[in-house]
Amino acid sequence: MSKIAVIGTGYVGLTTSIGLASLGHQVVGYDVDPAKVEVLQAGKLPIHEPGLGEILGDVLKSGNLKTTSVLSEAVTDADFIFTCVPTPQDEDGSADLSYVISASTAMKDFLKAGAVVVTKSTVPVGSAQIVEDAIGRSDVEVASNPEFLREGAAVYDFQNPDRIVVGARSNEVAQSVMDLYSKIDCPKVLTSQATAELIKYASNSFLAIKLSYVNDIAALCEAVGADSHEVLHGMGLDTRIGNRFLEPGPGWGGSCFPKDTKALESIANSFGIELPLITTAIASNEAAHKRVADRVMNSLGGSLVGKTIAVFGLTFKANTDDTRESPSIAVIERLIGRGGKVVAFDPMVSDYKLAGLTVAASPAEAASGADALVVLTEWAEFKSIDAKEILAAMSGNVVVDTRKVLDQSVWTEAGANFPTNPTTKAV
Ligand code: UDX
Repeated sequence: MSKIAVIGTGYVGLTTSIGLASLGHQVVGYDVDPAKVEVLQAGKLPIHEPGLGEILGDVLKSGNLKTTSVLSEAVTDADFIFTCVPTPQDEDGSADLSYVISASTAMKDFLKAGAVVVTKSTVPVGSAQIVEDAIGRSDVEVASNPEFLREGAAVYDFQNPDRIVVGARSNEVAQSVMDLYSKIDCPKVLTSQATAELIKYASNSFLAIKLSYVNDIAALCEAVGADSHEVLHGMGLDTRIGNRFLEPGPGWGGSCFPKDTKALESIANSFGIELPLITTAIASNEAAHKRVADRVMNSLGGSLVGKTIAVFGLTFKANTDDTRESPSIAVIERLIGRGGKVVAFDPMVSDYKLAGLTVAASPAEAASGADALVVLTEWAEFKSIDAKEILAAMSGNVVVDTRKVLDQSVWTEAGANFPTNPTTKAV
């Protein structure tokens, strides 16, 4: 079993430190904020991630996970140091490496000879060299082990990954990092640093392109009177396409896809390469947000001025409390920008600062007096909401369900009007 330090206690850092500790390693999780460290040490998770809290309790009890806000304590003894710090988007779309560089610089004098610094954060091609330069030690190795966890399913994904990718200058170093995952049975890819870095961006961007295509096809289905779910199901039966990641919605979001597509575009451009599919997928995603706002506006007589819209769902998808780059927020901003007032309910969000948006404590409170209801996140609990109660609380009956979570026949019977695209005709 190895001694591991994990730098950062965000979504990735927490899942990595708790996951590696559950595999039997001795892990020290570091965060600069002592308050965060205290919360963790008390066995509490600062994020909502199904199943992770239970494992946190187990690894704290077994002593496999310790936490600290003193960097030297975390890294001095560590054989492997995983950096899980944010790489936010710069103004030009490129990834901002300042946290990665400052973490590398801060730890360099504490590292023991032979230590391997492993980058988990999503970083552009060539970043391994930047980390090596920031550390500036010939007796320390640098590797890249990109993260593929989905929020809301991070525990499952850690334990059952489709693959693990490790890139390093030598096969020996890459293998030493891969050995940390010896208890996990899955395809394992040992490669160079640049290849590992690019696999992450290329995968996320491909998935974003896939979803933009799905949303565009769903819009076409509605226009021609075809059933989008049946069309996508029929497509997904072709094993070359696959039946996963084919759900239409109000657009894709979250902490990865929007940032990673723009970063890949920026990396490609810096090498003089154009990636028009990615550029178009990003534009298509914005069109998906706009389509939802258009549908609500057109169903309410062509204007949102003076209208109240109830929204169910603020997070970027179900089973997370994360609202970063949420398509729901993008749609709400458009509704408010067109003069509407929005009252939203989300099971995991009790507050969100946005002029024109109020967060309600229950679905019925959000619906009270609303002209229209828009479902933007696929929370399972929305399925069992009482249609009659909600429609009775609303002043209108327009319902736009972008995730198809409501039982349309039950809601229609209760008096809901699910508008089809008013600007197009069925054939
Ligand atoms: C993603 C990648 O899946 C993961 O491998 C990577 O490491 C991080 O980014 P995550 O952002 O947690 O994970 O969410 P994901 O489940 O991929 O969903 C991203 C967005 O696509 C969400 O807004 C979601 O609602 C949307 N989506 C996903 C759809 O609209 N339809 C689908 O069929 C799947």
